[in-house]
Amino acid sequence: MPDSMSDSPTTTTQVAAGTGDELVTTPTASAPKRPGGSHGVVFRATDLDFYYGKARALKDVNVEIHRHEITALIGPSGCGKSTFLRCLNRMNDLIPGTRVDGRIEFHDQDLYASDIDSVDVRRRIGMVFQKPNPFPKSIKENLNFGMKVNGIKPTAERIEAVLRKASLWDEVKDKLDQDAFALSGGQQQRLCIARAIAVEPEVILMDEPCSALDPISTLAIEDLMNELVTQYTIVIVTHNMQQAARVSHRTAFFTVAGMDQGERYGVLAEHGDTEKIFTAPADKRTQDYITGRFG
Ligand SMILES: Nc1ncnc2c1ncn2[C@@H]1O[C@H](COP(=O)(O)OP(=O)(O)OP(=O)(O)O)[C@@H](O)[C@H]1O
Ligand SMILES: [Mg+2]
Repeated sequence: MPDSMSDSPTTTTQVAAGTGDELVTTPTASAPKRPGGSHGVVFRATDLDFYYGKARALKDVNVEIHRHEITALIGPSGCGKSTFLRCLNRMNDLIPGTRVDGRIEFHDQDLYASDIDSVDVRRRIGMVFQKPNPFPKSIKENLNFGMKVNGIKPTAERIEAVLRKASLWDEVKDKLDQDAFALSGGQQQRLCIARAIAVEPEVILMDEPCSALDPISTLAIEDLMNELVTQYTIVIVTHNMQQAARVSHRTAFFTVAGMDQGERYGVLAEHGDTEKIFTAPADKRTQDYITGRFG
């Protein structure tokens, strides 16, 4: 991704030993400081449609995602939450036959412009999946790999810093060379979060990161999200309404539409402050969903 995709038009250097998301920026003479793009917006989707082959999965999605906030994506199964999440780091590019119409901006720049390097996009916008998926390697190697690929030297200090950020250090500091599969599910998920952080992203996308975890591990991940959001922007898909209400600043409610024309695609019914969405939603579909009458 070109330098121009960073916060402001500056000369940008990746810091190897940084705290995670920061890019060292050297302001150029004319560069105003615009944290997170205009008004703190990191992503802006405009009239976004998404297709798997001929089948439309998302229609007319318009939403902004704000810097250093947790945005929750909620809605019934099949409404396109994961699809939308994967649009944000161009992960869908890896699925043949997919197509994006409309526009997604990342820091005011077209994320799908032809000169954007999708591999670099996926480093800056990391992803954590539903099922913990560590590599079949040691804890340390799980972190080393991505660092090396991205030109970051995996020093002992950096490994420790990343594991501390993922609230895992105390549990694994004496067994860094042990197989990651020997960790519990909750620990594996925190290792996957550590692995995502290790390559110094600025956004972390999480697709139902707690759905395979028990309530204690779930709360540990939620606490971790609350800490991470001071440095990162987080977008989380969740089916757990309490979780969305507990952790997120803003909520986007997707639902399924188009059935009257023989189609079936996801639309964004409503989005806004989480408190408002859960206490006084404007759309009846949101009301029905959050009160458990649908989905
Ligand atoms: N790789 C794919 N190829 C073709 N169609 C897909 C693919 N992935 C998802 N879809 C379709 O796109 C639509 C949206 O799916 P998506 O997985 O985004 O929904 P979701 O809201 O994340 O659902 P869930 O809550 O069950 O995870 C569904 O109709 C699904 O069948
Ligand atoms: Mg999904």
